[in-house]
Amino acid sequence: MRLPVAASAPGKVILFGEHAVVYGRPAIAVAIALRARALLVPSDRLRVCGRERGGSAYVWAALRRLWDGPAVDLKIASDIPSASGMGSSAAVSVSSVASILLSRSEFSVERVAREAFEVEFGVQGRASPTDTSTSTAGGAVVISPRWEGERLWEIRKGKKRWRISRVQIPEIPLVVVLSGRRSDTGKMVARVARALERNPSLWSVIDSIEDLVREAIGPLRRGDLESLGELMRENQRLLRELGVSHPVLERIIEALEPHVYGAKLTGAGGGGSVIAIPRDRKKAVDAALRAGFRVVSTSMSPTGVRQERV
Ligand code: MEV
Repeated sequence: MRLPVAASAPGKVILFGEHAVVYGRPAIAVAIALRARALLVPSDRLRVCGRERGGSAYVWAALRRLWDGPAVDLKIASDIPSASGMGSSAAVSVSSVASILLSRSEFSVERVAREAFEVEFGVQGRASPTDTSTSTAGGAVVISPRWEGERLWEIRKGKKRWRISRVQIPEIPLVVVLSGRRSDTGKMVARVARALERNPSLWSVIDSIEDLVREAIGPLRRGDLESLGELMRENQRLLRELGVSHPVLERIIEALEPHVYGAKLTGAGGGGSVIAIPRDRKKAVDAALRAGFRVVSTSMSPTGVRQERV
């Protein structure tokens, strides 16, 4: 066993397809240049960030699932705002799993993606592998029932199957605005499930999201910002119909509107963040700040999970 070991993994934003992807439909996500870091060190008792109880449910779930060695402390540091729709829990799950597998010399990127998905699924009760696979792979990723680019791995759960492909895309300029309201993924995913049960006609919204995601792959490869912006607006309209937007997210989108090709919530919604493709970055950022919101300065990141020096 090798201790101490450390690993890090990036956050993500979903460009298109959140929620529908939980039902096996496609989504497109990109890793971002904000990371979580996990450091696994020997300890007198099993601890997370120095404590025997409390702390991240995702880290405890990773330890419970994978750790069977002597007592360790799994310490996490993250620069991804939590509950912001930016994949903080995925990055924490991925880096935790990676550090454990590294300590046993069992690390492989695909194994990390699988185990981290199980960790997230276990904690949230329902999940797609979008966040954990994007954080593991880095770059731009399509999650779909079929292969859409370079094949990475396939993940199954029950009757659902997701194929994770890497797509090569040019750098897409992004502005990320924080709403200041927490986005609880488990709660929002459960809310959509209940809405679909109560009102089966909402399945047509899921179908429309699927069509839109397929339509977005071409413009994404070409870097056609005008078309991508239009598709973002449409995706936001459909997410609103699903009931996962929030007045504060709508206020952000309204403030950004004159300065962006398009904007939408990203992640589970109900709070969290808005992503936008700026026509003029400075004007878009200023408009969000003037409206009283925090802007996260980040960009796409090609680097997924990786070992760190200790
Ligand atoms: C959360 O970032 C994205 C959702 O689609 C949930 C999931 O895919 O697990 C809302």
